[in-house]
Amino acid sequence: MKLPGVFAPISDSWLLARVVCEHVMPGARVLDACTGSGVVGVAAARAGGRVTAVDVSRRAVASAWLNARLNGVRVEALRGDLVAPVVDRAFDVIASNPPYVPAAGPLPTAGPARAWDAGRDGRALLDRLLAEAPPLLAPGGLLLLVQSDLLGEEPTLERLRAAGLDADVAAREPGPLGPLMRARVEEGLLDPGIDREAVLIMRGRRPSLSTN
Ligand SMILES: C[S@@+](CC[C@H](N)C(=O)[O-])C[C@H]1O[C@@H](n2cnc3c(N)ncnc32)[C@H](O)[C@@H]1O
Repeated sequence: MKLPGVFAPISDSWLLARVVCEHVMPGARVLDACTGSGVVGVAAARAGGRVTAVDVSRRAVASAWLNARLNGVRVEALRGDLVAPVVDRAFDVIASNPPYVPAAGPLPTAGPARAWDAGRDGRALLDRLLAEAPPLLAPGGLLLLVQSDLLGEEPTLERLRAAGLDADVAAREPGPLGPLMRARVEEGLLDPGIDREAVLIMRGRRPSLSTN
């Protein structure tokens, strides 16, 4: 379920949920940032993770909490900006499907577009996560972020490496442009020839502590 105005899970959401579940060990401390309906966090909790979910939207926080209850798992649901409510904690897995659609004008502070509009280059939230999430990873911990290949994968890999993480692309799902990206082509925010994109799960791993 989701309360009105909360982002309804799409293929990106299920792809991230699947990749997260491949990496969550029972008891792992998991953060789902930009949780929306809680789809990723609930999947991680069902896989045995101890999950905290954060979203800036009150309705999303309530939806994530309710969906956990409906699935018979516990998710700590907190309202706040990206990772701000949990900056004093460490996590084994941090996952996020942030807004990443290029958009003219300032970032929305309310309304449905807050779930997808992400600045002129689509990287406003992604780049903040790449700066703010790595310090919260425990040794051996994983950061898993959704983005489109249209935002460029190399800048993300570079930022992951600059944060001291081993970086790669964990999953790549090519397909036709979705309606939002198509609209941005029509608005001239993306090259007119683009009619396909790939959804990527970008992965950064903090090296484990050495044992010698
Ligand atoms: C693309 S939706 C993803 C929702 C869900 N994780 C999924 O995969 O279906 C992005 C979510 O980010 C939230 N969001 C936007 N800006 C945020 C911010 N600064 N801090 C926390 N959450 C934010 C929106 O409210 C929305 O729920």
